[in-house]
Amino acid sequence: APIPAPDLKSCSRATITNGPEVPYSCCPSIPEDLDKVPYYKFPSMTKLRIRPPAHAVDEEYIAKYNLATSRMRELDKDPKDPRGFKQQANVHCAYCNGAYKIDGKELQVHESWLFFPFHRWYLYFYERILGSLIDDPTFALPYWNWDNPKGMRLPPMFDVPGSSIYDARRNPHVRCGTIIDLGSYGNETKTTELQTMTNNLTHMYRQMITNAPCPLLFFGKPYRLGTAPKPGAGTIENIPHTPVHIWTGTVLGSKLENGDTSFGENMGNFYSAGLDPVFYCHHGNVDRMWNEWKQIGGKRRDLTDKDWLNSEFFFYDENRNPWRVRVRDCLDSKKMGYDYAPMPTPWRNFKP
Ligand code: C2O
Repeated sequence: APIPAPDLKSCSRATITNGPEVPYSCCPSIPEDLDKVPYYKFPSMTKLRIRPPAHAVDEEYIAKYNLATSRMRELDKDPKDPRGFKQQANVHCAYCNGAYKIDGKELQVHESWLFFPFHRWYLYFYERILGSLIDDPTFALPYWNWDNPKGMRLPPMFDVPGSSIYDARRNPHVRCGTIIDLGSYGNETKTTELQTMTNNLTHMYRQMITNAPCPLLFFGKPYRLGTAPKPGAGTIENIPHTPVHIWTGTVLGSKLENGDTSFGENMGNFYSAGLDPVFYCHHGNVDRMWNEWKQIGGKRRDLTDKDWLNSEFFFYDENRNPWRVRVRDCLDSKKMGYDYAPMPTPWRNFKP
């Protein structure tokens, strides 16, 4: 059977990955009519939202994005407002750090076939909330174009201290245009920038083409009601998704500004990743890889297993309304109202 939407009443304290309890509650507020939360209906739309590559946006876009994010941060004054910046980050914490129980076991959206659809829905609502806070129904999140040499560094707009999309809890090495190593789980190798970029394209070729010729390899292993969480991640979740998190967050075991020992905050731990605005930009590109992968051809298609298609999540929308959403309704991003501004995908010809 499919994984049902979490029972909000079962939500309890989350646990920091490889650490103690999260020192605050990540649980969302419980809607009044919990038993009658309806299935999501797509609002009518007139124009697609086109998500731009984050390294190539103009000043006007940056200003809008910062304004929307600062308004979202202001909503944190009401801790019950599900649209608030912290509440949105807590969505990730609740779904990924054991706050929800399904059938007596932890609900976990990573390391299984729920990875792509969960994050797609999560960004969908996050983007709509940002757009509604600036009255712009066409506002679209940026994507971190790390699969292209032009985007293989922290997008510059995120590296402006004091701006609303800045996060002080990043590894200092992400600053000033350092090239990211998409294959690294934390050990830095000394090599030239050109070599790192070349290696990155090779990683992309492997994860998108060589290692993911059929759906389960790309999406991740089946996760059904009654089975154990984290059966196994798909290719892109493993690399480069997780290395980008680790690369961006603080160094494990270092001291945070408040004296606490780092568990990778913010980007490098599930419970805190959503507190860095670049999280949603990173996941924009992860999500774009889903679309790109389907275009490569062969057997690269969405899964047809009913347990995947009928799995459900719970989200609040930009009007604070609660919804149940299904995997089957998120397979086509254009039908959801958004698409990606095209960028070249040089890894496609990068056979090792
Ligand atoms: Cu839900 Cu990039 O992690």
